[in-house]
Amino acid sequence: MKKILPLTHGLRGTIKIPGDKSISHRSVILSSLATTPVEVTNFLAGADCLSTVACMKALGATIERAGEKLLVTGNGLHGLREAENVLDAGNSGTTLRLLMGLCAPQKFLTTFTGDNSLRRRPMARVIKPLAEAGALIVGRNSNQNLPITILPAEKNLRGIRYEMPVASAQVKSAILLAGLFASEKTTVVEPAPSRNHTEKMLSAFGARLERRGNEITISPAENLHAPEKIFVPGDISSAAYWIVLATILDGSDVTIQNVGVNETRTGIVDVLIDMGATIELVNERTSGGEKFADVHVVASKLRGVEFGGEMIPRLIDEIPALAVAAAFAQGTTVIRDVSELRVKESDRLAAIVDEFNKISPDSFSATDDSLTIRGGREKIFANCKTRADHRMAMSLAIFGAASNGVTLDDETCVDISYPNFFDMLEVNASARQ
Ligand code: S3P
Repeated sequence: MKKILPLTHGLRGTIKIPGDKSISHRSVILSSLATTPVEVTNFLAGADCLSTVACMKALGATIERAGEKLLVTGNGLHGLREAENVLDAGNSGTTLRLLMGLCAPQKFLTTFTGDNSLRRRPMARVIKPLAEAGALIVGRNSNQNLPITILPAEKNLRGIRYEMPVASAQVKSAILLAGLFASEKTTVVEPAPSRNHTEKMLSAFGARLERRGNEITISPAENLHAPEKIFVPGDISSAAYWIVLATILDGSDVTIQNVGVNETRTGIVDVLIDMGATIELVNERTSGGEKFADVHVVASKLRGVEFGGEMIPRLIDEIPALAVAAAFAQGTTVIRDVSELRVKESDRLAAIVDEFNKISPDSFSATDDSLTIRGGREKIFANCKTRADHRMAMSLAIFGAASNGVTLDDETCVDISYPNFFDMLEVNASARQ
């Protein structure tokens, strides 16, 4: 149980955030497929990325951790070996889906499982394209859920052209990773652009990729060439909690340092600016093809907005935090095309409606695929449930901190993506600069 007290003043000064979760996963996976050692700095040592580390070790990579540095040494693109046990992806959809793509072409058997949440999440979306390429995959519940077993591939996978029904970076990445091992080129077509970290990092490792509109084509590869170092920028999904909090708390003027600002991830900034927020990206730099910047935020009055469509994949993980901002806006916010929220770590549409309404009654409602937030209503102290969902826990925490306080039944889930989140909240609560 965790009690969050109301913050009595705005956020000031500077904030450092942990490394990007998506890029941390990919840096471990791709480095494990090279032959030369890679030093990964600012690696996110959250539970999800540690699941990827454990799985890649089980598949034969050597990975040593020293604080936020990781030293990864692989055995080459064709050097993975059969794991001695079931691979446990824990709570991590990214670990599971990307590694399904990586293991599908291998000549050995792999069985995956995960925690209560991951075992409920839909996996047919990955099994289907991989099976089309010739992979032999079986899973519980008519090939929809974990546990899942990938049988040894009898021959090389075929190159496929696959039109994804949902915009999902995890599904896209699984198909591209499998495509490295196929006998022909593989093309994946996205309905809307999703995060492109896999494409950027594969290119940085020398793989041949082409993008034409919403189509990405990868050529089979003999080997990958790793850079000596990978710097992981800060996670904009973690920065989102401070960006929202600083926007809605009077008197805030804060800079969040080294935030990844890849354009497939900055929807949160675009929508908040549209709502009237004062956010500026300063000191923009690039490392390994990924842009990062310092994000300067000053408290502002917000107004409700409506959006959906192509914007959604650019802020899919930030919708709970954005819903908090909308509760402080003047007017109504409508977020369309968000049915994917129903199959995240929890059913986030249900969680937002049930839990956020405890803090601001009658403010949040949802349909199958949309969320409506009536801003500016009364906020009260509430006892809320995190549903073991890290992003719900952090969003509820900032909601309570900006309102009249909140208790969270189980806060430990923040370890998934932001292990020192509550320490940072306390530091910001006591700092007065
Ligand atoms: C991720 C992709 C997104 C996102 C998740 C991380 C990734 O999932 O929600 O937190 O690293 O590729 P989907 O691919 O299911 O949209």
